[in-house]
Amino acid sequence: MTKYSQIFLGTAFSSKSPKEVHILKDYLFCINSDGMIEQIVAPENNDYQTLLDTYQHQANFHRLAEGQYFLPGFIDLHVHAPQWAQSGTALDIPLYDWLNTYTFPLESKFANLDFAENVYQDVVSTLLANGTTTALYFATVHKEASIRLAEICAEQGQRGLVGKVVMDHPENNPDYYRDKDTAAALADTEEFILAIQELARTTKQGVYPVVTPRFIPSCTDEGLQGLGALAAKYDTYVQSHCSESDWAHGYVQDRHNKNDAFALNDFGLLREKSVMAHCNFLNDEDADLFAEKGTAICHCPVSNSYFANSVIPIAHLQAKGVEIGLGSDISGGFSPSLFDNTRQAVISSRMLEDGVNPALPAAERGVPNSRITINEAFYLATAGGGESLSLPIGRLEANYAWDVQMIDTTLATAKLPIYQADEDLNDVFQKIMYLARPENIREVWVQGEKVHTR
Ligand code: GUN
Ligand code: FE
Repeated sequence: MTKYSQIFLGTAFSSKSPKEVHILKDYLFCINSDGMIEQIVAPENNDYQTLLDTYQHQANFHRLAEGQYFLPGFIDLHVHAPQWAQSGTALDIPLYDWLNTYTFPLESKFANLDFAENVYQDVVSTLLANGTTTALYFATVHKEASIRLAEICAEQGQRGLVGKVVMDHPENNPDYYRDKDTAAALADTEEFILAIQELARTTKQGVYPVVTPRFIPSCTDEGLQGLGALAAKYDTYVQSHCSESDWAHGYVQDRHNKNDAFALNDFGLLREKSVMAHCNFLNDEDADLFAEKGTAICHCPVSNSYFANSVIPIAHLQAKGVEIGLGSDISGGFSPSLFDNTRQAVISSRMLEDGVNPALPAAERGVPNSRITINEAFYLATAGGGESLSLPIGRLEANYAWDVQMIDTTLATAKLPIYQADEDLNDVFQKIMYLARPENIREVWVQGEKVHTR
């Protein structure tokens, strides 16, 4: 009966539904050689004692200590890996100016593979240390460096979904940073897809190529059409930015006489495996199209506070049945932590509900029923991300990957305020969500492999 590769004993938190967290108190988690959870066993289950007797003295048995808990690893649906090099800076001007003043000059440096190597090694290890087990990355326009990012994910054990960015519009991008022309952009994307599919054959946790038009303003219609065709040909993921700011949303209305959602759909870019960042200005018709296509929204609440000119109505979009996950949007969002982004998602939703202008009467100030809870924000960072990617990740349940972060609430340098041995586990969960810091993340596992320890 020693068929499992690993068994973990401990208390875990996992989303049961968008609003409810399942508390798995003292469960056994039985992991197979593929790194999948084969079964989870409650203490009252008949097999519990037998499994304990069989495994508890073996090297592959892991028992959490007092004050330690498992959470699913976080799924960051929107990271600009090259922008890690400017995180925490350059947040003083609006999106259009930010791209041209800071971001395109930085991203152009990734033609240099040595520079790319340094930054990409750091961003992947930093995200793992922050509990992010799966990340959906924008790289840059450079094919070679983008392939290297996927290899680094594979080597460090992170589940990486990586896109070579396409910016083929000859007038809307600077000469020093764009694809040579549309044909070259499409050829490089196809070669990139094939290279990553080859890499995936030897990568346990999975790496995936992502068709990545930066956003409509960066691309020609021909380029967007060609990318839609490549996504269909290879059945790949697609990512882009959608209706992010007044300027970006308005640009697409001027060029296409419709909103981003319908324009992207015309190019074949709204697919089940598509994830669109931001989406602040989606109207109800756009949202219905997303729901019908199975396209997901990636909510980036820290970044939105700087660049999106608005707070996205997450509660409303969730009620409309759109899949939604969470993203850091490094470096529009300065933080590599999805803990920070869950907190900001709750805070921003509260500000949307109450409104922010004290000169207005209370009844006119906000948008009723906009708030989300920390449970809902946790769902976005875990199960919602898994559903957005159509992958068995983000929940601690049978037939999901063993992707977890082990949280220690008892560290002397980052002790959470838990004073009773029998503290309500709902409160423990909320304290972790609001107060945990990277130091509290003692171990990170992806697909049954330990990829980070501190
Ligand atoms: N729109 C186009 N490119 C970007 C980017 O790099 N970051 C953000 N936040 N929005 C974008
Ligand atoms: Fe972005």
